[in-house]
Amino acid sequence: MAKRIVILASGVGTNAIALIRFAHQNPSLADIVGLLSDNATAPVLEAAKELGVEAIFIPHNRQDEQIAQIRKWGAEWACLAGYMRIVSQEFLDLFREGSDGAPARVLNIHPSLLPAYPGLRAYQRAYSSGISESGITVHFVDEKVDHGPIVLQEKFSRLESDTLEAFIERGKAIENQIYVRALDLVLRKENLDDYRRISNE
Ligand code: GRF
Repeated sequence: MAKRIVILASGVGTNAIALIRFAHQNPSLADIVGLLSDNATAPVLEAAKELGVEAIFIPHNRQDEQIAQIRKWGAEWACLAGYMRIVSQEFLDLFREGSDGAPARVLNIHPSLLPAYPGLRAYQRAYSSGISESGITVHFVDEKVDHGPIVLQEKFSRLESDTLEAFIERGKAIENQIYVRALDLVLRKENLDDYRRISNE
């Protein structure tokens, strides 16, 4: 049975679009039941609708409405795809089975090699820091920001000749692929025992 997945996104939505396309190509594995945005003018809302996904704007401070909508869709998994908000414990509990230490079924993508550069403007901070490589991380979400068991990471170079735009472009190309690979991986797992321990500390 396909897993029912909600996407939360605030912006352009290249990752959301990649996840929707993946679900369309793998209908027995993944069903994107809806997309929520906290940003009424986010391009991702239109992009999702064009791909046949119900996409709804609900402000972040109306969490009860968000939770009601997620329940209505019957979502079992959530993918944060450029969602510029911190999710609450109540939100995470919607996607948790029991309290046996397994992570909530909530994934996030972050444009750094976590635990390096959590938080906002990760591309910019990595670019400016003088490192020779950075990376992309897909991880389970826990109570802390950009923290939680890592599913996949992939490195990419920061060339001396790079402009910030070129550096981000290299990273974004990886993002759209690695998120799909990570989702595919976890959806095929019988259980999430491999991800109990916080591995990025
Ligand atoms: C990505 O860089 C992602 O890693 C970060 O927010 C950005 C969203 O991009 N969390 P998009 O809207 O998916 O194109």
